[in-house]
Amino acid sequence: MNGYATFFQKKIQELRSEHRYRVFTDLERFQKNPPFASWHPPIQHEQDPKPRTVAVWCTNDYLGLSHHPETINAQIKATETYGTSSGGTRNISGTTHLHNCLEKKVAELHQKERALLFSSGYVANEATLTTLGEQLPNLVFLSDKNVHASMIQGMRHSRAERIIFKHSDLNDLENKLKSIEYNRPKVIVFVSVYSMDGDIAPIKEISALAKKYNALTYLDEVHGVGVYGQGGAGVSAELGLASDIDIIQGNFAKGFGGFGGYIAGSDSFVDFIRGYASGFIFTTSLPPAITAAGLAAMDVLAKDPSIQESFHERVAYLKDKLTKSIVPFYDTGSHIIPIIVGDAARCNQLSYQLLTEHNIYVQPINYPTVNRGSERLRITITPHHSFELIDHFVSALSEIWQRLELKIAA
Ligand SMILES: Cc1ncc(COP(=O)(O)O)c(C=O)c1O
Repeated sequence: MNGYATFFQKKIQELRSEHRYRVFTDLERFQKNPPFASWHPPIQHEQDPKPRTVAVWCTNDYLGLSHHPETINAQIKATETYGTSSGGTRNISGTTHLHNCLEKKVAELHQKERALLFSSGYVANEATLTTLGEQLPNLVFLSDKNVHASMIQGMRHSRAERIIFKHSDLNDLENKLKSIEYNRPKVIVFVSVYSMDGDIAPIKEISALAKKYNALTYLDEVHGVGVYGQGGAGVSAELGLASDIDIIQGNFAKGFGGFGGYIAGSDSFVDFIRGYASGFIFTTSLPPAITAAGLAAMDVLAKDPSIQESFHERVAYLKDKLTKSIVPFYDTGSHIIPIIVGDAARCNQLSYQLLTEHNIYVQPINYPTVNRGSERLRITITPHHSFELIDHFVSALSEIWQRLELKIAA
């Protein structure tokens, strides 16, 4: 057994020496007082080991819908009515009426014939892309370089050929498409809002290339749904392009403030995935409370556009404040605000000082989530971040940025 332990410890030491050993911030989010939470400092934080209240600046619960009375009530009511578990896989007693209602609603949201739920957005990507690549003979994936880990895993597991095009580079994509025989099955795999840089894909142009070269399109809208488009239908809907995309993948864990993932597409495609995807078939379906919260979140956004408006107003305010400060940031057009530090140790230091000195929690993002040299803080806010809180955040960040003598990363 010693040999095994030595191996594991050596690998952990490698992470520590590269400053990318992940330290999870121990939080209790306040349901009644977002965006605040109680932070439990680690034991080694000896100066002050007592929990203290911090503001969260890196949540993916973008619209704060996990705190909305209607989503909370829906979860409680569904648990009281149906119990805590679905009790089985979708095929064996685990398809509740709520699952069917939610799939219908997701299909309508994305203007597709049909939708299918998965345990998470990760599983939706992994299972769908694996199944496509395994089942469709001679398929080739054309994947944007920056797609999410779950999409990469799915394509890899399928063992189908995968050609990577430069990030959002239409010329490179077209050259690669040209080199493939017209009738060979192809799927272009990309993301509407890239999670770490926050940039938005050229959806219209990629769809046009797909049509020209006889390819299917697979679009991850995980960071788009909830936040963009009427009722939270995502970036493709906001741009009037949803019908140009063959398969839209999304989740409930970010803009919808809940949990679980899905795909939406044509009836035959979704039915095909339902019948062949191991990651869909051989796992317990989502608990009733989770599906009920998903339905409630969609209802809330459909009837109350002011939640999205208030969110985007705050994002614009934060960007404006940052523009006027000494802190450089990338405005890539979405709600995700990356502040590149470019060094893992200094990024950790910046995050730690914000937390311990100003009660501001922003998780440092290091390799392999982002490339080495582009370590960053990834700032996200919610409608619950007041303008005063934003002012405080920018002044605290500016103060530490100056003290640490941080520069714009190359
Ligand atoms: C682009 C993208 N796709 C998929 C996922 C996975 O979604 P989930 O958290 O629901 O598993 C994430 C999660 O961060 C993501 O950023």
